[in-house]
Amino acid sequence: MARRIIIDTDPGQDDAVAILLALSSPQDVEVLGITAVAGNVPLALTARNARIICELAGKPETPVFAGCDAPLGRPLVTAEHVHGKTGLDGPVLPEPTMPLQDRHAVDFLIDTLRSEPGGSVTLCPLGPLTNIATAFLRAPDIVSRVEGIVLMGGAYFEVGNITPTAEFNIYVDPEAADIVFRSGVPLTVMPLDVTHKALVTKERNDAFRAIGTPVGEAVAQMTEFFERFDKEKYGSLGAPLHDPCVTAWLLKPELFTGRHINVEIETKSPLTLGMTVADWWGVTSRPANATFMGGIDADGFFALLTERLARL
Ligand code: RIB
Ligand code: CA
Repeated sequence: MARRIIIDTDPGQDDAVAILLALSSPQDVEVLGITAVAGNVPLALTARNARIICELAGKPETPVFAGCDAPLGRPLVTAEHVHGKTGLDGPVLPEPTMPLQDRHAVDFLIDTLRSEPGGSVTLCPLGPLTNIATAFLRAPDIVSRVEGIVLMGGAYFEVGNITPTAEFNIYVDPEAADIVFRSGVPLTVMPLDVTHKALVTKERNDAFRAIGTPVGEAVAQMTEFFERFDKEKYGSLGAPLHDPCVTAWLLKPELFTGRHINVEIETKSPLTLGMTVADWWGVTSRPANATFMGGIDADGFFALLTERLARL
């Protein structure tokens, strides 16, 4: 039985690979819809990019919704310095022809969680948590109906990538993240601690290109574009595939290791705003609310990813 998911996203080259991986495996993952949120680039571009990716995957029937264009209570911070002006720099891909759905993404989230059987829909946020938090605020009744949330965000041992202490998705909307982390919904978190171990080395990127399809070529070009930031900053061996860790967990959770711990969000301090305060060593009595990942079988991850992308 395929797991039924909604992908909430701010594409972003790594979001693109996560979406492609999900769309490549309909027998394992049924994508009920894709909800775009402002993050890496403004909403108009994330809603455009999500549709470009669906068409690249040959799945123009996938419903794509535009959501919130700014965080709950702060100005939007974007990341063109990482993802380029369009958010999907690298490959030259055609403008989307598939339509954007009329409904707002938050209405789609609420309607779907209310109409589908309780516990049958998993939410997979890959960007700032604004859409998810807005849905929870507007319709608290849906919170208990969510099967689980599998998200990319946060950092503990790796600390920050946008400030010294905060990871981008959480930093952009810390109030939204706080609502999600306090919601009581079972959380599986892919922080930088694990995504920084999923690096697209040259050999791995050559394997994408060797797929020999438009998808393989586009993914190779996307990672060649967005690896610059991490190579310059961290001296890393390649682009970290942050968001595809979410989809890979849905397909093969045994690729990952982590701990069920308490994770809370800093929403006040100007110095550490957006930090995921992960009680990895269990030094507090705060209740565990998240399975926080720290390890990955990187070779197994790339083998899965390459094999599945070749199906598109
Ligand atoms: O910090 C990495 C996260 O921020 C990824 O989801 C990337 O796409 C950006 O949204
Ligand atoms: Ca993202």
